[in-house]
Amino acid sequence: MEQLKNACLDIWAAGSDTTTNTITWTVLYVLHHPEVAIKMYEELDANIGGGRLITLNDKHKLSYISAVINETQRLANIVVNPFIHTTTTDVVFIPFGTGKRSCIGEGLAKTELFLFIANIYNQFEEYLQYRTVNFGCGAVRYEIS
Ligand code: HEM
Repeated sequence: MEQLKNACLDIWAAGSDTTTNTITWTVLYVLHHPEVAIKMYEELDANIGGGRLITLNDKHKLSYISAVINETQRLANIVVNPFIHTTTTDVVFIPFGTGKRSCIGEGLAKTELFLFIANIYNQFEEYLQYRTVNFGCGAVRYEIS
């Protein structure tokens, strides 16, 4: 019984902060990159529309949003140096670890990240005001005003 309790605690602890922190980082990065938000909204408008919930069946239509999630996981590596093991060669993108002790929640986490992020952006619009800084020659930068 004690072992079952501890296994449940492990899964709960490993599975809650990791996913919510990744969602928080995604919102933060997108807030700082309005050009990315615009592309996310365009993809959502073209493929879904705001009137319904997004399901996993929509994943193949939302490749830009999936790429935004991947990029967030690459930038905000929330499980740094996965505990006591290391890799023998340079690796670029292993947010869920690798090998025997890699994350058992990877499938669930990817599902949660996609459903939460796609639905949040499908239901809510960006709420910060941006200032457009025009450099001429077509170069434009957005800044939070
Ligand atoms: C964005 C979300 C998540 C990230 C970035 C993440 C990352 C990781 C990483 C890097 C490891 C490997 C640690 C190591 O090498 O020793 C790991 C292990 C683990 N993760 Fe996740 N995880 C996430 C979500 C979840 C979820 C949703 C669950 C469960 C529902 C979960 C359960 C676990 C467990 C139990 C282990 C230990 C596996 C073992 O030692 O055999 N994780 N996670």
